[in-house]
Amino acid sequence: MILPPTPENLAKAAMFLRRGGLVVMPTETVYGLAADATNPEAIHRVYMAKGRPSDNPLIVHIAYWDQLETVAGRLSAVAKRLSEAFWPGPLTLVLPKHPGLPPGVTAGLDTVAVRMPSHRVALSLIEEVDRPLAAPSANRFMGLSPTRAEHVDPLLAEIILDGGPCQVGLESTVVDCTGDQPLLLRPGGITRGELEAGAGVSIGHAATAGRRRSPGLYARHYAPRARVELVDLLEPGMPGLSFEESGEKVIKMPEDPRAYGAALYDALWRLDEAEVGVIYVERPPDTPDWEAVRDRLTKASHPASDER
Ligand code: TXA
Ligand code: MG
Repeated sequence: MILPPTPENLAKAAMFLRRGGLVVMPTETVYGLAADATNPEAIHRVYMAKGRPSDNPLIVHIAYWDQLETVAGRLSAVAKRLSEAFWPGPLTLVLPKHPGLPPGVTAGLDTVAVRMPSHRVALSLIEEVDRPLAAPSANRFMGLSPTRAEHVDPLLAEIILDGGPCQVGLESTVVDCTGDQPLLLRPGGITRGELEAGAGVSIGHAATAGRRRSPGLYARHYAPRARVELVDLLEPGMPGLSFEESGEKVIKMPEDPRAYGAALYDALWRLDEAEVGVIYVERPPDTPDWEAVRDRLTKASHPASDER
């Protein structure tokens, strides 16, 4: 059931979470399927509801700094600088795991992904539960992440808190801070340039570092039901995303990468609703500002038959 985030509904959702239930909560990036991160049964329910492989760890969401000590071990100097510069906000840090956190949250790894979201409703909910909340994106495995309450499959959770459209619209940037050099595991709401300016260090590429890759990286991901094909220019009659014009089943996308990111999943969702078989997407520029959008489009357009 989609509910407005009134104090009564937040209290109801918090009670549900404390009893091990699942609640869909808005964040500034995408909607998340939240569970009490300290409850192993609740965590198990998240994997089941999403159809998510059990080797793909979850992100733990906190609302205040003291909570960090209950989920992660000591922070490196770089992790400290990054968290201070970008929290609350769309940045997830991979940190040493606190031994008290159940192993299911991190898929058995000794590292944990943590973020402090900036969405008012997410923060209020975490405060009300007074426990860290594990929350993957509120979609079935491999599918599109929801950026509006009405995109969420109502079968995922009994309570869906409506926080309006997500302002960032792409998942958080994930940075592994457990090694000598921080590594970008997933581009997202915060760009590499912003990270480097904020932390005063260069951020490595996970793809070239080999060893420390994110277990949850698949070649195909973030995909609508329709097949996605990248093209240089939309021809007349092709349904899809254009920089130039709108029309029947053609959505005109913003030329600014941030605005494009915020609009992308909603646009793909709408074309899915229109039941187009193929969504043609005009290739965005090959510049650093577009890294996150290009990442999602590359994965969304990866053929379904070759999944890893
Ligand atoms: O914006 C977001 O991050 C959203 C909202 C709800 O906060 N959440 C989200 O969660 O995108 P999810 O589960 O869809 O993506 C989590 C990503 C995966 O790529 C996963 O592999 C990575 O974080 N991850 C989690 N724990 C990790 C760890 N210990 N080491 C490396 N990568 C990790
Ligand atoms: Mg996801």
